[in-house]
Amino acid sequence: MKSILNQSRQRLDHVRAIRRELHRHPEIGADLPRTRALVLRELNRLGLDVRENVGGGIVADLHGPDEASGGMIALRADMDALPVQEETGLDFASQIPGQAHVCGHDAHTAMLLGAAALLADLRDQLPTGVRFLFQPNEENQPGGARFMVEAGCLDGVREVYGLHVWPGRPAGWFGTRPGPLMARPDVFGVTLRGKGGHASAPHQCVDPVLAACHLVTQLNTIVSRRVPPGERAVLSVTRLDAGTGYNIIPETAFLQGTVRTLSSSTGDMIEEAMRTMTDAVGAGMGVQAEFDYVRGFPVVDNDPAAAAKAARVLGGMSEMVEGNIDPVMAGEDFSHYQRKVPGCFVFMGCGPCAADGRGGLHSSCFCLDEDCLPWGVAALAALALDRG
Ligand code: NI
Repeated sequence: MKSILNQSRQRLDHVRAIRRELHRHPEIGADLPRTRALVLRELNRLGLDVRENVGGGIVADLHGPDEASGGMIALRADMDALPVQEETGLDFASQIPGQAHVCGHDAHTAMLLGAAALLADLRDQLPTGVRFLFQPNEENQPGGARFMVEAGCLDGVREVYGLHVWPGRPAGWFGTRPGPLMARPDVFGVTLRGKGGHASAPHQCVDPVLAACHLVTQLNTIVSRRVPPGERAVLSVTRLDAGTGYNIIPETAFLQGTVRTLSSSTGDMIEEAMRTMTDAVGAGMGVQAEFDYVRGFPVVDNDPAAAAKAARVLGGMSEMVEGNIDPVMAGEDFSHYQRKVPGCFVFMGCGPCAADGRGGLHSSCFCLDEDCLPWGVAALAALALDRG
């Protein structure tokens, strides 16, 4: 597997050029015309069997032996950027105001194209066919993966793998785990309707601000008092809007936030507890409470055999492989593929971050160490070439 790494290092210039081209021209959401054109241009050079629109994504097949009976290996990259004003000062920084690749999806796309090129050269060594999935709209619920799966992008596939750059670790580091790796990211909103009026006469009003304060405090008891101590869960109220002036009791207060869980039963329990509490606070304080809850992507749940394969294959390439890292509470729609076929999601080091610590994922200062690119290309290719 060391030779795969050497071969992918020889391709660094091309992969880096693709990554920088994507980085200069980030696109957001489901509609990524310029990004798609670049991906298609590269894929068409390789003589793959390309389908331009499968549920909104691009699917390319590199055919190999036994794929009809045994199934193909699928490798996935996401392609979308974020609504962030880049502040890295890089000479290939985003040329589009208010949009930037600050989650590394430019690198994911470039690395998967690099792996496709490498594997096309090594097609005689393939144990089975390889399917490359280029997905839009990972950053927005309900995500792009679901629609690609519904459109059949995994038909004939037996295993799926995906990578995400990880800024806290150096190039060459890989981390994954069997079982839940990333959370179900749910979103909630509560509107509390009272009766507005003069701040000097609260007895003539129904104060939604006070009700909101009680509710925020009560919601924060759910994780500490209702979730079993060994289980991970996060409930964050992140937004509280109410009022227009110091002497006016407003009509309404609005709060919003997110719940993160690693099992759907815990997520469902928290949702139910929140609903009950919201109703109770509303009734107790005389405000009308409207509770809105949207379940996010499913949990990224790595198949044990696929996670063991990833740890073994990557361990043959790098000494910095951790096969049982802690789960993280961010979400990823890679989970939609895993609901259809067994698969494993892997983090790959792309540090160091900006020295002041502001350079994490989704930060305006996010930048990655491009030395990680050949590692990612090699990792994807090695997963497809493995016969174990
Ligand atoms: Ni991302």
